[in-house]
Amino acid sequence: MTFIFSRLAVAGSLVALGLPALAQTEVKIAYALASDSHYGVAAQKFEEVVLAETGDQFEFNHFPSSGLGGEREVIEGLQIGTIEATIVSSGTLANFVPDTGVFDIPFLFRDLDHARAVLDGPIGEEILGKFDDVGLHGLAWGEQGFRHITNNRNPIRTPADVEGLKIRTMENPVHLEAFNAMGAAPTPMAWPEVISSLQQGVIDGQENPLSVIVSVKLDEVQKYLTLSGHVYSPAMLLVSKPFWDGLDDSQKAAFENAAAEAVKAMRGYVDDVETTGVRTLEERGMEINQLSNEEKATFQDSITSAYESYYETYSQDLVDSIVNFE
Ligand code: PAF
Repeated sequence: MTFIFSRLAVAGSLVALGLPALAQTEVKIAYALASDSHYGVAAQKFEEVVLAETGDQFEFNHFPSSGLGGEREVIEGLQIGTIEATIVSSGTLANFVPDTGVFDIPFLFRDLDHARAVLDGPIGEEILGKFDDVGLHGLAWGEQGFRHITNNRNPIRTPADVEGLKIRTMENPVHLEAFNAMGAAPTPMAWPEVISSLQQGVIDGQENPLSVIVSVKLDEVQKYLTLSGHVYSPAMLLVSKPFWDGLDDSQKAAFENAAAEAVKAMRGYVDDVETTGVRTLEERGMEINQLSNEEKATFQDSITSAYESYYETYSQDLVDSIVNFE
């Protein structure tokens, strides 16, 4: 690690003196989805801005489509310094910083603007800052959009339609609790196992935002899509703390600017797919239904017991301050 620090510091000084830099520092950036997904688009923008601002000090190597393992393994790789950067969902983040789970509470955010304002504001900033205590450095909140249910068993309109449904959830206790309360049969599972489990019928369905359903082509393995919007799905641009501590101030500023631009690109992708995604999936043959506000309310009522347990973990004041954030 000392070697990495001194190499970064020397490389920075040589560039400042106008001398040729030493060998470039590798940034392995790993993410679960393909290069043409919202994660891929953000990762490319991240690289572009870092390179534009630092010259040739860094060399990026991308590992899309879970090329370095599931999100939990990748985050652990960041902690020990074998992977430098990642873009991840909130799926396993609460296992590292428990407070992040508050954003996974169903029906918490009104719309994308509300979620973005909270994540970019003091509440999001405070939680982002907690990653430094666990061997990680949170650069920025990104997003995937609102999650919807896909499955091969039946269209979903009421909680009765998910009764006993074998649905994959992320390895996230807040989501698991909600689907249990709804009467489904949720199975927490790392993303790299999901497609084969759907193909083999080990699970009937899964839930993810349009950004994922479209970019992964889940229509190839799922028949029904219910636009439930049951929970907002944040993402995060994280770097390894050992790596971060080895950067000088101007390099840190470049990574921060790059993360802000990456998030703009990610949100732009999400805005686009939120407009065009349903038509794309219809054209690809999915049977789609949109839950009305009244139908959503019946799902919210069905998880009253889950809300009771959320309030034991996250204070009602914190939840209220998110709900009422303007
Ligand atoms: O469902 C998940 O695990 C996540 O949304 C995914 C698809 C890995 C993207 O982060």
